[in-house]
Amino acid sequence: MTGRVLLAAAAALAAAARPAPAADISYGEYLANECVACHPPDVTDGVIPPLWLLPRDYFVQALREYREGTRDNPVMRSVARSLGEEEIQALADYFEYLGEQKRKGGS
Ligand code: HEC
Repeated sequence: MTGRVLLAAAAALAAAARPAPAADISYGEYLANECVACHPPDVTDGVIPPLWLLPRDYFVQALREYREGTRDNPVMRSVARSLGEEEIQALADYFEYLGEQKRKGGS
């Protein structure tokens, strides 16, 4: 339901109380809780890449391809199918922001 999603986004926004970042970043952070169960927060030598490392365009394109079934991975296909375009954009905003923070931190 749209109303509930908006409420959740508003709650996430209020909780974040950080300056600057756009509304989408809080919403993206909220959505990203699901992703970080598998995608590690930092660079490892595993097969699953940290999402903030990916260029924004690549990230968006990959999710669209999983969703449409032109890119193969059973897990990611089912994850991507639950995402709408708006959610993909919010996630992209969040991981782009996170990437900037990580790079600033010099790691
Ligand atoms: C259950 C585990 C799991 C979850 C949850 C998950 N992923 Fe993934 N993801 C994977 C695996 C495994 C791969 C690597 C697939 C491959 O190499 O073909 C992957 C690959 C990707 C890629 C492509 C990476 C690349 O280098 O090409 C993107 C983008 C991605 N995931 C985004 C997400 C997002 C966004 C979420 C949350 C909405 C998410 N994933 C949640 C397991 C997961």
